[in-house]
Amino acid sequence: MSDPTNDGVDAAAATGADTAAGPSLPVERDRVLVAYASQGGSTAQIAQSIGLALLDAGCDIDVRPARQVERLSGFSCVIVGSALYHGVWMPEAFKFLRRHRAELARVPVWLFDSGPLDRSAEGHLLPLPRGVASLAASIGVRGHVTFGGRLGRTDLTVAERLLVIEGHGGDFRNFEDIRAWSEQIARVLAAERA
Ligand SMILES: Cc1cc2nc3c(=O)[nH]c(=O)nc-3n(C[C@H](O)[C@H](O)[C@H](O)COP(=O)(O)O)c2cc1C
Repeated sequence: MSDPTNDGVDAAAATGADTAAGPSLPVERDRVLVAYASQGGSTAQIAQSIGLALLDAGCDIDVRPARQVERLSGFSCVIVGSALYHGVWMPEAFKFLRRHRAELARVPVWLFDSGPLDRSAEGHLLPLPRGVASLAASIGVRGHVTFGGRLGRTDLTVAERLLVIEGHGGDFRNFEDIRAWSEQIARVLAAERA
């Protein structure tokens, strides 16, 4: 609360002293949410891998399906990812971006998607699907990357089995690249905190 005797200047804020609400210490660790949409589980594993890399880099992390996230309060950074199906993001990831776009515009946000069943994603910047791209622009996302996908579980749908028969089966995720991308984010966050 401001001291009415000091011309409206909040003494605690001006001196850095503790306030009634508690010590005015800087937050020491970033708290990062990794929210994802995955049908077959491979994008979920990418999200977990990103979370682990950020944890190793000293961040607090929360990794969960986008549909389970109700609020963003308390997170200082958000990473959103989706599997690609038929050229678009899964609806729950897209809806997550749309629902939370005002809050997302206030924190650093990175996006990833996963899909290509070959090495085409490695070392190349692939465009975001159009609807996601315009939302990403309005949020002001810091970056986007596409990682290779995986097709080859045992419980495949008919469409997936057809793709495997056509020779698209396999695991094209590069976990070294995924870790390197995550560590780059951790470095940016640390630099902005310093
Ligand atoms: C029916 C079908 C459509 C797909 N469409 C795309 C696509 O448009 N672009 C792409 O990069 N990958 C596409 N994929 C590959 C998936 O994105 C890939 O298997 C991904 O790893 C799936 O992630 P998930 O296991 O998290 O659901 C498709 C896969 C299937 C089975």
